Amino acid sequence: MNNKRLLTLAATAATLLGAAVLSACSDVKTELKTPVYKTSIKEDETRMSAFKKDFPEQYASYMKNSESEVMTVYKGSVAYRKNDNVNPLPEGYKYAQPYLKNLWLGYPFSFEYNEARGHYYAVEDFVNIDRINRYGDGKGQLPTTCWNCKTPKMMTWHKEYGDKLWSMDPNLFRSKDKIDMIDESINCANCHNPTTMELRLYSEPLKDWLKRTGQDWDKISRNDKRSLVCAQCHVEYYFQHKDNGPAAKPVFPWDDGMNPEDMYKYYMTHGPKDALGKTGPFVDWVHAVSKAPMIKMQHPEYETFIDGPHGAAGVSCADCHMQYQRTDGKKISSHWMTAPLKDPEMRACRQCHADKTADFLKERVLYTQKKTFDQLLKAQEVSVKAHEAVRLASEASSRTENYDVLLAQAREMVRKGQLFWDYVSAENSVGFHNPAKALDTLMKSMEASQAAIDLASQATNYTISAALAGDVEKIVPPIPKHSRQLMQSPEHLQSHPWLKYLKPLPAAPQVWDGQTRLTSEAAPK
Ligand code: HEC
Ligand code: HEC
Ligand code: HEC
Ligand code: HEC
Repeated sequence: MNNKRLLTLAATAATLLGAAVLSACSDVKTELKTPVYKTSIKEDETRMSAFKKDFPEQYASYMKNSESEVMTVYKGSVAYRKNDNVNPLPEGYKYAQPYLKNLWLGYPFSFEYNEARGHYYAVEDFVNIDRINRYGDGKGQLPTTCWNCKTPKMMTWHKEYGDKLWSMDPNLFRSKDKIDMIDESINCANCHNPTTMELRLYSEPLKDWLKRTGQDWDKISRNDKRSLVCAQCHVEYYFQHKDNGPAAKPVFPWDDGMNPEDMYKYYMTHGPKDALGKTGPFVDWVHAVSKAPMIKMQHPEYETFIDGPHGAAGVSCADCHMQYQRTDGKKISSHWMTAPLKDPEMRACRQCHADKTADFLKERVLYTQKKTFDQLLKAQEVSVKAHEAVRLASEASSRTENYDVLLAQAREMVRKGQLFWDYVSAENSVGFHNPAKALDTLMKSMEASQAAIDLASQATNYTISAALAGDVEKIVPPIPKHSRQLMQSPEHLQSHPWLKYLKPLPAAPQVWDGQTRLTSEAAPK
């Protein structure tokens, strides 16, 4: 037992007990404070192992985030390819979404996109993902912003480089002398002040948002902090355009609200400025086939949860993903942040729903997830047809007088439909965090994508309509395989009608393998 901790231990036990009793009620808001410790860990510590001696129980439970074999019905911790519904685990899975590569064509997400697993793997998965370029000159071709949600080292690097950091080459930070893949993956320092263990924020975009909305971290309730520490990463964000501030700085698009409608509106502006200084729409990339100006949504868990049945009732992320547990008679927060369905006893849920059986609760989750997943697949298909409609229209010879206007409107509806679909697709609970919002969002996605099809058809005097009727798999088959390496192969780019719209990449050797640079020439400066 660490002497410094003795003082606070009684208070800790009382606080934890208090919170547990309170969370049995329907309103779990609590005024109690997070336990405060006094450690000798350095304020700017970024290694997980530095916390092990003082907090062996939390450390041991955090290490369980390395579990990577167990699946639940729709989710779990195997990093399978999210587009592959053909192969068995660990490569593919039956509840995959086959059109992901089609929908992201022209954007690095079309190269590789996997199911999330535990925090333990964040850096390992980052240095192995095909989205960050590993070929040719070895430059990542994405900003360092991508590192933001993978490691507390962001604090060190931001201190060193300031806002210049964001637009630097991410591969400057990937080698073993820059980061320890396991010890400096997401850890204690991302959520705790190392000297007191109070909850704190490391994340620049969340700190910025609190500042923009006049909120002071020190005055925010403990209950809200138990979700906001997760909202540092489990949210939608974008890379700021240089016309609006430091280039590629991550920003949360929440100024109009957290719903998909609000974000769609937000992204109408916040792009580059024109000659008169007026701000145009923000665009992540232009779709290779439809040329629609697209937005890629990223895991909006916090935004989805916040006005769902649990978020609205004041339940926090930690209530379900960090349940209280007893180790050696001590009550601690489990730091194994994973799918609650991996526990056959559903203990996280039964802290509050003590009158329900584990099976009942599991069935309620699956009930929502099945309905959400079915509609997710349908919305995905209408989105694919919408891109195809615009493609056909842009090559059609029969054109109405207002063809250009209609086609521009059609592309806008492609963008909207896919943004709404992705809000649910990229969200990691398959609807459970907010069942009504998930289904409403998917319905709006289908409305917008269908409007795109109608507008494109109208623009061609409906000459393309016949080509769009019927089974989507016959009209546009899924693209099963695509990668940076395959982009170098002209044959691959002839293997699907949509791939023909891509320009091949020049043949180039792979220069990065994980954290190792394979070629002897100097690493990029
Ligand atoms: C009422 C309980 C509850 C709350 C509150 C809650 N979640 Fe979840 N979460 C779940 C359930 C249930 C699943 C689905 C797990 C499954 O299907 O296996 C899930 C899934 C997830 C997943 C995907 C897990 C995986 O296996 O990939 C992530 C990530 C996640 N939640 C993060 C959050 C965050 C962040 C918050 C707060 C903003 C939050 N959750 C709030 C219950 C909850
Ligand atoms: C993703 C955010 C996050 C990470 C990473 C994290 N914690 Fe926590 N930790 C929390 C939250 C949330 C609580 C609950 C605080 C509360 O209820 O006020 C907590 C509580 C604690 C407590 C108070 C006692 C308890 O168990 O509730 C300790 C001690 C602690 N964490 C240690 C650690 C250590 C050590 C690590 C790294 C191995 C770590 N935490 C990593 C979010 C995190
Ligand atoms: C520093 C950024 C960051 C913070 C803070 C963070 N997460 Fe995560 N989380 C991630 C990333 C990145 C992954 C995916 C890692 C991978 O797949 O390699 C992830 C994965 C997960 C998963 C999936 C685990 C599995 O087994 O499939 C859950 C659940 C989750 N986080 C919940 C939470 C909760 C709850 C909090 C707050 C207490 C939180 N996270 C805070 C970045 C973060
Ligand atoms: C901290 C307390 C708490 C925890 C933990 C919790 N719930 Fe709830 N749950 C609530 C509250 C509060 C409500 C909303 C109103 C009510 O029923 O009083 C609710 C409502 C529900 C509902 C009905 C609304 C809906 O979404 O259809 C279901 C189902 C449910 N919870 C399942 C779960 C499951 C499954 C888990 C674990 C993954 C869980 N809950 C964890 C407190 C909690």
